[in-house]
Amino acid sequence: MLRMRLSKRHIRTLVPLVLVLCVLFMGYRHQRTPNVRTVTKNNNSNSNSNNNDYIWTIKSDKVTNCGTKKWGKDEIIGLLSSNHIDLDSNVDIQYLDMNQLVITNIGTKECHYLAKKFERCSTKPMKELIQPSLKGYTDEHAIKKDIRGSFGFEWFGKSEYLYFDAISIGSLFQSQINDFFVLIDVSDEGNTGKDQVSFKIHDLYFVFQKYTLKQLFEMNTNSDTHHLVSDMNILFGTDCKDPRQDWNIYKNKPLSNHYRFPSYISLERAPVSKPPGYHNPKTKILLPDGKNLKIVQLADLHMGVGENKCIDEYPITENCHADPKTFEFINSVLDIEQPDLVVFTGDQIMGDRSIQDSESTLLKVVAPVIEREIPWAMVWGNHDDEGSLARWELSELVYDLPFSLFKFSPFDTRDNSFGVGNYIQEVYNKSNPSDVLMTFYFLDSHKYSKTGKLHPGYDWIKEKQWDYIKDVYETSLYKNIPTDKPHISMAFFHIPLPEYLDIDSKKSPGEQNPIVGSFKEGVTAPKYNSGGLKVLDDLGVQVTSCGHDHCNDYCLQTDSARNPIWLCFGGGAGEGGYAGYGGTERRIRIYNINPSNGNIYTWKRLNGTPNDKFDQQQF
Ligand SMILES: *[C@@H]1O[C@H](CO)[C@@H](O)[C@H](O)[C@H]1NC(C)=O
Ligand SMILES: *[C@@H]1O[C@H](CO)[C@@H](O)[C@H](O)[C@H]1NC(C)=O
Repeated sequence: MLRMRLSKRHIRTLVPLVLVLCVLFMGYRHQRTPNVRTVTKNNNSNSNSNNNDYIWTIKSDKVTNCGTKKWGKDEIIGLLSSNHIDLDSNVDIQYLDMNQLVITNIGTKECHYLAKKFERCSTKPMKELIQPSLKGYTDEHAIKKDIRGSFGFEWFGKSEYLYFDAISIGSLFQSQINDFFVLIDVSDEGNTGKDQVSFKIHDLYFVFQKYTLKQLFEMNTNSDTHHLVSDMNILFGTDCKDPRQDWNIYKNKPLSNHYRFPSYISLERAPVSKPPGYHNPKTKILLPDGKNLKIVQLADLHMGVGENKCIDEYPITENCHADPKTFEFINSVLDIEQPDLVVFTGDQIMGDRSIQDSESTLLKVVAPVIEREIPWAMVWGNHDDEGSLARWELSELVYDLPFSLFKFSPFDTRDNSFGVGNYIQEVYNKSNPSDVLMTFYFLDSHKYSKTGKLHPGYDWIKEKQWDYIKDVYETSLYKNIPTDKPHISMAFFHIPLPEYLDIDSKKSPGEQNPIVGSFKEGVTAPKYNSGGLKVLDDLGVQVTSCGHDHCNDYCLQTDSARNPIWLCFGGGAGEGGYAGYGGTERRIRIYNINPSNGNIYTWKRLNGTPNDKFDQQQF
């Protein structure tokens, strides 16, 4: 332990030094930029405005970029004809995305930071390719992720951000500029070809090619050609993934490998013509006749940027790599079970191991599910938002991902007064799509109690949230639920309800309620009971499933409600989260629901023996 006693002499030299440092960093942004990109988002056909596919539609109140132009059909026809462009007969004008970008310049900006609080950047990024004709038409875009991977607290250091200039295809038409260089690729070699230039940034070359507007447009409308780059991102860690449609990570070589995590460039190449639902079509879940609905619940994956650190591995192996080991487990369970739905019940992102970039962690977490084209839902835990992105920003990312069922409720908030990601998902009968067979509720259970003295520990799902789902049920859901057949309802959230402690029967003192599975650690339910169980009872929910307590994996039938409700834990699945309690192997819970007789079956699988089911039960 190092102790320093400050003498008057020290103070006399320190004070001016601190003053000089403060002056040096004056005018710097007060807060370090969060790791979000400031790329202008398109506001057009791909924004999912045709929500007809939802029965229960909640429009997100995402910030839409008001600077994005809406292109009229006649205006587009005029621009095409004045540029002598004949559209391919199978391209529909109304689906042309004139706001799609092409990248016309690339550069970086170096900054110095002090105590990770103040950051001073040069006023202009260094850009490589000056194209005077495009001046005034392009917008500057910043990817606010530090390539140098500054991580955790440091007193001072350098950070660096990637910048690029981009112009929309519509603006290019209007500008009447006829040839220009646009980004076509990244490469580990500096290509020089006809009409080609490349610029080295760190270890990668960014390759630009000269095009005429006619060439560029025809190439991007034709669906079988290699499209131009329409957007760019940086992801970190050798195991990073980008499962989004049209996005590909250049993995041959990192942008830079000299810092804590290698950084990679991910490029989007999208066609200009995007029919409705091109991105993330949110469709109804339709269950074919005679089929059960199978759900895989992934609880507490605790993933980070890079391979991440194994915590309390059990049984211990020689060489544990946390996230790769968790993925192997997830992949085998998804392959064995072939589920219809995957539910992430919080703490999928270990925030303090994603300070570099929560987006990199999030994209790799969902990749195995998106690659298998399985619809998935997600709720937040208490650790997801402790990295580079806040809960709301994470929610915006998740809302837009392929096969995501995540929705914003009209009352969602950035703070814990209502939280974000409170939504309802229904499952319909494929032969009779107005018939609702099942209803799933997803709720934000927040993080830590804000009234620590009165109710210490974890926060709770607020009365307003329970009121909201009850209100939706009573005003609309209820009407579509047939009364002559079994209806299945389940609720998913991260932190257990207080009734998860009902090991002893309330109605018959001295008796125990039915329980299947292990009860190894103290249940970390909130100390305050916001009355959720009664609401769930009124809605006819039979089962709730949560995460949070990694070493509890039981299902307990509580008798605190009018009807017996099963309260289940998913059981921790991630090697990067705590375990212990005498050694706990990671596990995954599965639900299998038969809509004809209303039976719900559940079982779990262990990391070491994924082929074997255990703790099978029927509700
Ligand atoms: C963006 O889209 C929204 C919703 O479709 C619309 O209300 C808004 O006017 C659009 N903004 C622009 C600038 O086109
Ligand atoms: C789905 O609809 C068909 C046709 O109406 C019906 O025969 C079948 O029983 C329904 N399935 C369920 C699970 O209700």
